[in-house]
Amino acid sequence: MKLPASFYKPLSIGAPSPFQELPLALERMIHFFPAHNEKVHAKIPDLIPQVDVILGNLEDAIPADAKEAARAGFIKVARENEFGNTGLWTRVNALNSPWALDDIVEIVSAVGDKLDVIMLPKVEGVWDIHYADQLLAQLEAKHGVKKPILIHAILETAQGVKNVNEIAAASPRMHGMSLGPADLAASRGMKTTRVGGGHPSYGVIEDPKEDGSSRIFAQQDLWHYTVARMVDACLSNGIRPFYGPFGDIQDTDACEVQFRNSFLLGCVGAWSLHPVQIDIAKKVFSPDVDEVKFALRILEAMPDGTGAVMLDGKMQDDATWKQAKVIVDLAKRVAERDPELGKAYGL
Ligand code: GLV
Ligand code: MG
Repeated sequence: MKLPASFYKPLSIGAPSPFQELPLALERMIHFFPAHNEKVHAKIPDLIPQVDVILGNLEDAIPADAKEAARAGFIKVARENEFGNTGLWTRVNALNSPWALDDIVEIVSAVGDKLDVIMLPKVEGVWDIHYADQLLAQLEAKHGVKKPILIHAILETAQGVKNVNEIAAASPRMHGMSLGPADLAASRGMKTTRVGGGHPSYGVIEDPKEDGSSRIFAQQDLWHYTVARMVDACLSNGIRPFYGPFGDIQDTDACEVQFRNSFLLGCVGAWSLHPVQIDIAKKVFSPDVDEVKFALRILEAMPDGTGAVMLDGKMQDDATWKQAKVIVDLAKRVAERDPELGKAYGL
């Protein structure tokens, strides 16, 4: 077993030291672009200021014969743009694919200093993280990368879910995790062809009525269990949980509901696969104005965070002070990026 004292040591001589705490960043949406598509490259400068994170996708949805073009396209986009406080990520191919090694080696060699996070698909256990961790450290050392490149795992196999706690704790290079509902459904043998969201047949029905009238059936959230497990694994290890993709681009209402369920359960963001989902994520993952105002009143009413007070008939104590702080801290981060919303929050 690795000694606790070695946990934060660089894995290669000359690689940057791992972060002991993740840098604070607002990451309400991870906006995916197909990295092989030159028409999309032209739109990147306009997209950058609109999103919190921009991600060049090299994995699923990129045809096998465009994998190399996607890798080269991502490098070109990274070189030709300035990203300011927008995060630059890439989703590389899975480690068991023929492309993953070249994806990581070529991208870190070319643009390692600009890259914030590598999203790693189909992570099944700590072995995947340890492999990528070591390889990244070697490449950082070789190319003089100054800031550690973080790893974001996609939780999208039954085995990955079984090992979620160990994955979250595997390395100080871990940034967080996203739910991958499409691959996960397939891996688990779930009977849905949807990418995230509910299913009309998955729900509960009320008890039979005496008069025989029709019974209410309500859809339930297929992803509640997995998202909740992922949130506990992430937060107990100081890393960030994200809801992943929502595939029905036209069903903006359902997308908003799915994103909001995950936000309320603890997630900090979701993927946007289409520009229409950027605004949904912005709306959902920025705290509600009234909620922020009430949270500010709680903090004001309990300056040292202890004791008990009543606000609008609701009991507040040390625990609700902490709940309020979660919301106000997030609101402050949102306000830095979005001064209009900051004003509405009264910050
Ligand atoms: C995402 O990668 C998914 O499989 O849902
Ligand atoms: Mg997937």
